[in-house]
This record gives sequence, structure tokens and C-alpha cells, in this order.
Amino acid sequence: MTKTCLVCNAAIDPFMSFGQMPQANGFLLPDDFQDEYLYDLQIGLCDQCGMVQLTERVEPDRLFHENYAYFSSISTRMEAHFEDFAADVMARYVPKGNPFIVELGSNDGILLRHFSQAGVRHLGIEPSANVAQVAVEKGVNTRCAFFEETVARDIVVEYGQADVVMATNVMCHIPDLDSAVQAIRLVLKPDGVVIFEDPYLGNILEKTAYDQIYDEHVFYFSLTSVQHLFRKHGYELVDVAPQNVHGGSMRYTIAAQGQRAVSQAVTEQLAWEGGEGLTCRETFDAFRRRVEHSRDALVKLLQRLARRRARVVGYGATSKSTTVTNYCGITPDVVEFVSDTTRGKQGKFTPGAHLPVRPYADFSANYPDYALLFAWNHADEIMAKEKEFRDAGGKWIIYVPEVTIL
Ligand code: TMP
Ligand code: ZN
Repeated sequence: MTKTCLVCNAAIDPFMSFGQMPQANGFLLPDDFQDEYLYDLQIGLCDQCGMVQLTERVEPDRLFHENYAYFSSISTRMEAHFEDFAADVMARYVPKGNPFIVELGSNDGILLRHFSQAGVRHLGIEPSANVAQVAVEKGVNTRCAFFEETVARDIVVEYGQADVVMATNVMCHIPDLDSAVQAIRLVLKPDGVVIFEDPYLGNILEKTAYDQIYDEHVFYFSLTSVQHLFRKHGYELVDVAPQNVHGGSMRYTIAAQGQRAVSQAVTEQLAWEGGEGLTCRETFDAFRRRVEHSRDALVKLLQRLARRRARVVGYGATSKSTTVTNYCGITPDVVEFVSDTTRGKQGKFTPGAHLPVRPYADFSANYPDYALLFAWNHADEIMAKEKEFRDAGGKWIIYVPEVTIL
């Protein structure tokens, strides 16, 4: 069956398949192993609009629900990031008077709580009831819903239009992105701004970070593709800023065409993308070859360690690691268990690969020889706090940007 671009409807030929995959956050119990939901994880580039995207998708209500496993406030680094983000938005884009701001996918309120504390009128739209509840308990005004046109219209009736619409690690999750932008148009004041952040395609390619590719990430944005999408709706990029979170993200600021000055950062980054071939098929064929090479190196290393009977434990049962464990065929006989601080994941098994997830105490009470750093995007924070593991002779295995023992 021909695949078509979700943004412009052009035909897409996938450049890579990772094979059958479970849901990245589908942690489960042995009783459910038999019925595990699988789909074909494939990714393609649209030649027409430059959007890199999944060509098979999992229905959103399978992914985001009352048992969503991911809480944004899991690390001090992320808390600090969102605090800075809030301060920047307040200083640059929240006007005086009686401003109103909206966040799409506000999760546990990690960003909006700063606006709440500053007394700024705000509303978070969050489809996963369990994380939304945590935000409400923090004093964040939250509505449990998927953001769409009807919701946008309701918001305008109730609160008026917004000065700022924000989203972090959310836009790339919305399959019907065109409608979402249409709904943003309804909710945003004509002179308002949209500010969103997502993992950046430039970083994924540069670091061979193929584990960013999984069901929830429908899109892999570049400035080129974001510009194309928003221009259809009368908007343009006015600023961009790279962010050192989630392995390399980009913050995009968008306003109605001609409304605000376009920063030099936009012009420069677009030129960089042109030079890097971010819309060229060959770039992605080369990426696929690097991914295959990375997989082979990791499998070889883990097999070698298993033959030596070294103990290897995974660190962080991340969504991203689902792609790695399944694509590389990592089984419990090479990785004993995965340590994770999220209660809801502990005692369950990782999707597809079925590695046991255990509390952090199981890691710290009996250090393994090697810790396979699935949460590599938090490497600085984790390595700094795990000095004792190093002192006890423990070693880290990382695979982004290359398979390395540290
Ligand atoms: P993320 O990479 O999608 O942000 O998810 C990080 C996962 O790793 C999350 O399940 C929590 C877990 N984690 C730990 O177990 N220990 C840590 O020190 C950190 C930072 C995260
Ligand atoms: Zn397209």
C-alpha cells in the first residue's frame, strides 16, 4: 500500500524499517505477553515538504490514557530546563495586562506550574488523566482532552484567545498535525506566538540517535518541514534555539507572517539544514547504514560480555530503549534487568524484549559489572550521581553517538 505524507499527502517511500515493534511505553505483565500489540516501525521522508515521519501509526488513544507511564518531572535537569523556559517566555512573550497562555500536552504541570505561581491565567490540555491529575494537584489549571478544533473553540468561549500557545515534546506526537495547527490558529490571538520544542532531526542524524524513532514520535522535525507546515496556515518561523535536552531538541517560535522580525538564527539554521542535506534521500540512506552498524556493534559487545558472564543491567526503562532492545534483539540473558525510578514501571517487563524492570535499589544494592545507559539523554546527571558505581569498578555502556564503554 502506498504511504502518504500526513502533512501534504504526497507519496512516501520509507527509507528504513525496524521490523515489528511493541508500543514504546507498553510496559506489561507476563499474562499479557501473548496479546502484546505490535506494529511495523517504518520511517520515511516526504520529498515534497521535507517532513520525516512514521509511515505506520498506532492510534493515539492506545498511547495516551489514564495509565500513561511517562511523567515529565522525573529529573532535576528537566525541572531546571522548564523553569528557564518559563522565565524566558514570561520575559519575551507574555504581555502586561491580563495575559492568557495555553499549553498542549501539559503532562504533570512541569512547565505551567511556573505560570500558575506567577499568577498568569493559563490552561493545560492533557489527554492522559493520571498525569493531568498530578498537575491539578500542583495548582495547574488542566483540562483532560486531546487538543482539537472543538476543544479550541471551547477554550476561546471560556477564556478568550491566548497570547502564547506552548507545547514541549507534544507536536511531534500529533498525527493530524495539520488540524492541530488549524486548532492553534483558532485559539491564538492574531499577534500571539506559538512556541514548541521537540527532538531535532539534525541531532538525530548527527548522533545516529535512532532510538528517538518510536510510535509516539510520529514526526522528526527540521526547520524546513516546520516552516512548510506553518506557512500553509499563514504563519512563519521567527526564532529558533537549540536545546540540550532529550538528546538534542529545537525550540521553534512561530508568529503570523509579517507580524514579527525573523531572527538571524532562523536564517542560519535553515542554511545549515540545506548544507547537511536534511531533505535528501541519500542523507537518510547513509543514516540507515550507520544505524545498522550501531546495532551490530551493540549486539556483538553484549554477546561478548554474556560469554564472559559479566553482569549487565539497563539503566532507565526509557521509551526510547524499546526501539533499541527490540531492534537489537536484547534478551534477559544478556541484560539481567532494567533499573528505573518510576513506580508504575517497576515490577513490569519492558515492551517486546520483556526485560524485568526493577527499582533503583536493586541496582545500587548489588552493582553490576556494566550499566547499559538507556537514559543516555540524562548522561551528565546520571554519571555525576553514580560515582560510587564507578568507584566500585562499574562501567557504562553507551550507544549514542557510538557504541562505547566508559
Ligand atoms: P526519558 O529518557 O524519556 O526522559 O525517560 C527517562 C526514564 O529513566 C524514566 O523512566 C525515569 C528513568 N530514570 C531513572 O531511572 N533514573 C534516573 O536517574 C533518571 C534521570 C531517569
Ligand atoms: Zn509532505
